[in-house]
This record gives sequence, C-alpha cells and structure tokens, in this order.
Amino acid sequence: MTNSSPLKGQKAIVTGANSGIGKAIAMALGRAGAEVVVNYRDGEDAAVAVVKDIAQGGSRALAIRADVSREVEVKDLFRSAVEQLGTVDILVNNAGLQRDAPFEDMTLEQWNTVIGVNLTGQFLCAREAVREFKRRGVVPAVSRAAGKIICVSSVHEVIPWAGHANYAASKGGVMLMMKTLAQEVAPHRIRVNSIAPGAVRTPINREAWSTPEALEALLRLIPYKRIGEPEDIGHAAVWLASDDSDYVNGTSLFVDGGMTLYPEFASGG
Ligand code: BGC
Repeated sequence: MTNSSPLKGQKAIVTGANSGIGKAIAMALGRAGAEVVVNYRDGEDAAVAVVKDIAQGGSRALAIRADVSREVEVKDLFRSAVEQLGTVDILVNNAGLQRDAPFEDMTLEQWNTVIGVNLTGQFLCAREAVREFKRRGVVPAVSRAAGKIICVSSVHEVIPWAGHANYAASKGGVMLMMKTLAQEVAPHRIRVNSIAPGAVRTPINREAWSTPEALEALLRLIPYKRIGEPEDIGHAAVWLASDDSDYVNGTSLFVDGGMTLYPEFASGG
C-alpha cells in the first residue's frame, strides 16, 4: 500500500472492538487514518483503553456501548455515531461469540445466543449502515464507494465443526447474507465483503493455543505452521476498507494460513 493513510477522512464503526480481532481491526483502521467507533457490550474499561491507543496514534476514537443482537441498541449506536462523527463510511461487523456443546445437548439458549449475535447482529448493523450509505451517497474526495461493509466470518463458513453447530451455522449464514447483500447494493456503490479468519490467537480460542500440546495439535491443521495474530486480520481489514480494493465485492477473503486447504490431504488421498 503506497499511501500510509488510505482511510483518512473516513469514519468507521467496529463492533466488539474491546478485545481480540475487533480490537486489532479498530487499531489498524485508526493507524490508517480513520476515525473509529469502538463498540463494546461488556468491558467498558478495555474499550476505553482501545480508544486511548487510537487517539495516541493521532486518530479520533470513541467508545459506544451496544448489544448488536438488539435492534434498538443498534439503532442508537448508529444514531450516536452519526451525531458525533457526521456519517459512517465503514462498518466492520465483528462482534461474535461461541457457546459450544455437543449437538444433542445444545440448549435453545445456546443456539439463539450465537445466532442472535453472530448472524442477526450482523444483519442489524449492516441494515443501518446501508441506510446511512444510501442517504449520503458517494463523496469522491473521501472514497470511490458510498460505503464498505466488512463481515468478520470464519473458516467455519465452509469447514463443518463438530460440537459447534450453532457457530458454524451462524458463519455459513453470514457468508450468504454477505453475498446477497453485496449483489443487492452494488449498484449504489456499496461494497460488502467478508474476512474469514482461521485460528487467531485471541481469548475466544485460548484452549487451542495456551498449552504446547494444544498448539501442536492446532498447527497440524495449519499448513503455514503458525497461529494467526490479530494484526494479520487488521491488515486485511484496512485493505478491504480502502479504495485499493475498490473492485472487490462479495468476496470472502480467507486469512487462515491455509487452514481451508484440506491439510490432511498433503499426504495420502
Ligand atoms: C473460532 C476459533 C477457532 C478457529 C479455527 C474461529 O472462527 O472462533 O475458536 O480456533 O475458528 O478453527
């Protein structure tokens, strides 16, 4: 990327930006010149710390609480972002969680919580973003697009995952929601894409990397032989939000060290 501030003058909302991948994306967008809304549901202190980090790097940031699975809270989030920043150019639909259980033991609450945040939450936020992007339209001095939506999905939008039916169903749903929305709003110059991370070192999957044995087992699933770092996803988000990817629309960008390459087929088959 030639321009070190490719997002200068743009306003972004990153959901679930108080930790993990969302935090790294918010910081990367801030470093790229965007003003950033750091959304969180719990963990206000962590969100305020992310805001401070972004401000130290020279970009404006603010923390706004909202549970993305609740329609009124999502509307308030966007209203307050537009009031304070003027508009929104970039939505990163990141907030997500896991509630794992064997299929026959999975409660309806576990199912609904995961679908509610990971899928319905992305729908509610994307809907508000599309409304704002269409209201404002393209401002050529800011970006070639009227707006960009980046859905944070997972390799599990294509890889089935035993013991995680709710999570895999939510991410498979995000994939077709993203593509359908991309098709629908492209004529309005709105770009919609996903980042599909593999195993990234964050609190959500601590069990998979926090002991040497677990890490060794995990690396067997990753041809590139390293775990992903949150910054790997931050870099991808800056590119997808910038005009450098202006002709990219309706795509899932896998950032997974090759996890989706059927590593067990490297020998055998
Ligand atoms: C999950 C992680 C998991 C990774 C690879 C992610 O979407 O949240 O828990 O380690 O996929 O399986």
